[in-house]
Amino acid sequence: MIQKRENWGTKIGLILAMAGNALGLGNFLRFPVQAATNGGGSFMIPYFIALLLLGIPMVLVEWSIGRYGGKYGHGSLPGMFDVMWKNKIAKFVGMLGLFSSGAILIYYTYIESWSLAYSFFSITKTYFGLDSFGEMHTFLTSYQGANDKYFPSIGTAYIFLIITFAANFYVLYKGVAKGIEKLALIAMPLLLLFAIAIMIRVLTLGTPDPVNHPDWNVMAGFSYIWNPDFSLLSSAKVWLAAAGQIFFTLSIGMGTLSAYASYLKEKDDIALGSLATVSLNEFAEVILGASIAIPIAVAFFGLTTTQEIAAGGAFNLGFVSMPLIFQHLPFGDILGFMWFLLLFFAGITSSVAMAQPIISFLEEQFKVTKRKATAIVGGIAFLCINLVVIFFQYGFLDEMDYWSGTFTLVIIALIEVIIFAWIFGIDKGWNEINKGALIKIPSVYKFIIKYVTPLYLIVILVVWTYQDAIPILLLNDVSPEQVPYRWIARGLMIGIAIALLVMIGFAWKHNKSNQISQEKMEG
Ligand code: ALA
Repeated sequence: MIQKRENWGTKIGLILAMAGNALGLGNFLRFPVQAATNGGGSFMIPYFIALLLLGIPMVLVEWSIGRYGGKYGHGSLPGMFDVMWKNKIAKFVGMLGLFSSGAILIYYTYIESWSLAYSFFSITKTYFGLDSFGEMHTFLTSYQGANDKYFPSIGTAYIFLIITFAANFYVLYKGVAKGIEKLALIAMPLLLLFAIAIMIRVLTLGTPDPVNHPDWNVMAGFSYIWNPDFSLLSSAKVWLAAAGQIFFTLSIGMGTLSAYASYLKEKDDIALGSLATVSLNEFAEVILGASIAIPIAVAFFGLTTTQEIAAGGAFNLGFVSMPLIFQHLPFGDILGFMWFLLLFFAGITSSVAMAQPIISFLEEQFKVTKRKATAIVGGIAFLCINLVVIFFQYGFLDEMDYWSGTFTLVIIALIEVIIFAWIFGIDKGWNEINKGALIKIPSVYKFIIKYVTPLYLIVILVVWTYQDAIPILLLNDVSPEQVPYRWIARGLMIGIAIALLVMIGFAWKHNKSNQISQEKMEG
């Protein structure tokens, strides 16, 4: 029998949960670094093209796949693909959705726990007095266990990790409406409020040190992030970075949007809801995300140093330069607390989404209770996360992020759009998108979903494989001491993928409801 599934409690709750799913660390840390290091204003051209031709179509496709799969009792991609594509391998291909969300969950929650820790360190002024980039960096690496200058052991990081984990799995244990939706109703408004408050503070900063550094100011920061360097538009790297950012920020190819959409009712709107959440995400990214970390860094450190910080990556920007700046601002402890708590809220509303597909999968395919499914996923994720914590300094997280958080997303998106537009059929697919729709999606999107998006994805995948994936696979730019740990990360990912395939095979062999839903669909 097809199980009765949970539904979202309210429309606003659904929108905020979906927006929380998308809006994450990517908006406030990843985006500014990507924009600043890939041509500033000219990055926004490939970025908006990717939003229109990849982002919006894929979000519509993923919501539709999710709502359709939910009708047959499926909250994860194996089951969803199985009901849309009558082929024995469909469910196994769907494994990728469980893989990417599960693997990202493993490292994402660790970074999320740093934000929680740093909000505590801000309000207690733990790092106040460490007044150089080098010291603040040592503070971060000490927290991460690479040296014992400020933290005698990795113990503090573990405490915050455990609290973060407990918070995530408590929310998941409470369920979709009572857990995830409630969290979003509280965390999302607070997050937006904090971000707007910090943005206003940045905008009113002017020139902090007019005597010694008259050209270190917020406007110089804005012109760094927004001035177009058109010569970079001919670089494939910039186009790939823009597409990668759209994927990550909108949570495309993670199986999480479809997991959330599976809790919609059959005739609930998709069109307006998905566009509303995309708009909220883009507001938080392009307006708020771009107006905080980079402009404030330029005002305090000048352009050259900020360029170096940005080139050093998102963690340096968020966890080294920002705490340094807060020490120079009135109420810096409170501002720091707000900045890191907003990162934590952005993180947790995304990480609960990452755990949801695999929890649904266990509930639906193995008939375990939500309580048990949550405990199993939490337990296994926690075991795996130890590797990320212990081997962090050897590039373990980077390796996982590249394969599960970057490359696989594009592969999944390509598979999804092919199943949706070509196998399930664009006419049926278009009907799904428009069923219950509260607004009319321009019909050009029917054409885009069928032809443009798949083609765009194929081009990205080919160029990406050639330019990035092969050199990364061969570990060309990795220091010799990192090589074994990179292989352990790969071993872990391969292990997760194989375990998921075995579970899918087992579930479909033993679970009658899959056959019934298949028959019902055919009938
Ligand atoms: N979409 C989520 C983020 O931006 C994963 O962090």
